[in-house]
Amino acid sequence: MAWRQRPAWANTPAERRIVAVPARARLAGADHPATDVWSYDGMVPGPLVRLRQGEPARLIIENRLNQETTVHWHGIRLPNPMDGVPGLTQPPIKPGESFAYEFTPSDAGTFWYHPHANSLEQLGRGLAGAVIVEEREPVAVDRDLLWLLADWRLNAQGEIAAGFGNRMEAAMSGRVGNTVTLNGSVSKEVPMRAGERVRLRLVNGSLARIMALRFEGHRPVVVAVDGQPCEPHEPKGGRILLGPAMRIDVALDLQGEPGRRYRVVDDFYEGLAYWVTELAYDERPPIRTHPLETPLSLPRNPLPEPDLADAERHELTLQGGMMGGGGMAGMGGMMGGGMMGGMMGMGGGAAWAINGMSMTGDGHAGMEPALTFLRGRSVVLKLRNETAWWHPMHLHGHSMLVLSRNGASVPHRQWQDTVLMAPRDTVEVAFVADNPGDWMLHCHVMDHQMSGLMTVLRVA
Ligand code: C2O
Ligand code: CU
Ligand code: CU
Repeated sequence: MAWRQRPAWANTPAERRIVAVPARARLAGADHPATDVWSYDGMVPGPLVRLRQGEPARLIIENRLNQETTVHWHGIRLPNPMDGVPGLTQPPIKPGESFAYEFTPSDAGTFWYHPHANSLEQLGRGLAGAVIVEEREPVAVDRDLLWLLADWRLNAQGEIAAGFGNRMEAAMSGRVGNTVTLNGSVSKEVPMRAGERVRLRLVNGSLARIMALRFEGHRPVVVAVDGQPCEPHEPKGGRILLGPAMRIDVALDLQGEPGRRYRVVDDFYEGLAYWVTELAYDERPPIRTHPLETPLSLPRNPLPEPDLADAERHELTLQGGMMGGGGMAGMGGMMGGGMMGGMMGMGGGAAWAINGMSMTGDGHAGMEPALTFLRGRSVVLKLRNETAWWHPMHLHGHSMLVLSRNGASVPHRQWQDTVLMAPRDTVEVAFVADNPGDWMLHCHVMDHQMSGLMTVLRVA
């Protein structure tokens, strides 16, 4: 059979200008009032940035907000000066100014972009978009879909609720909202055709909401995590666990019945399940009579393989937060009178720390690295979550091979830039420190990052 041909946009030059600017967006759907947002190019989410593996890109960000910003190309292994961390890798982009990000993506896959300045509020008001880096050869699927999922806290008037940086929330689950959008609006259905094989790229662009997606009547196969292809596998219990900033590509063979609808349910928070959308099959007969037999597999990216026998080993312990977590701030979870964990080095509004040190904010000049690696060294990091809360831990500039979780080895060769840790989890990851510069390592629950769950690793 003939696979879809490479579409026309493949030949467009990889240079584009993106404007960060206030706008209005219909988050709840066309029949609801619009919300004031901060946007890229007037859209929520921002424009999809399509790049090609191994081809240079130039992305010019123009700041028409009334505050400083930067853009971080989350998950893309790029030169340090292009990483978008204010103070650490570049001066912030002042209102009225522009900055040109130039890099050549070495890895194909699903990535995203967002500000790294005043991140909690800028991301929470809508500044985010997806990046797709295309493989050199087209991948054999009938359709390639992207769902950028985002969580918003709207008030009764449909506006974004104030109160960013609430200290109580920062020490608990972070700012979890009340409205989940799919590609910028609440979704009732996504049209599907029976028999198709779809590559579905899931992006969790939320500030704090963790998702666990189930596809009723379907068996999604995970083919990539955080942009990096893995061994194709069905997720445990059929549930796709997606922490903030994570991406998962699934292959979805549409074996449902023509004319039927199937819910996509997020049941991560106990008692608070809701459906994200429905797969709405049209009436047409299946496009193929038998399901495809070979699983979809993606070409490997050129990631350096860590030498585990000769690796440096370090431990990073996540500390702080309210005791006795598990509930969810602001959504009716019962909060028994919690206490901040007593810890050293947590002054100035910090609620969290890594190895006893709290770096707060979004990044600034003079952040001293917690660890320094010689370029080319293999590194094994043991991340220990001593807290009662979940943390999606993100490393800039590298992709990490997840070796083990709580002593059990992690199968399917999953390379990740963001590793979701449950309360008390211990996770071992490995990577080659091959990208010179100072790189952030932080929790991607934005309130957690802002209030101390951040550090810097240096590759010298
Ligand atoms: Cu997606 Cu430092 O962040
Ligand atoms: Cu990043
Ligand atoms: Cu966290």
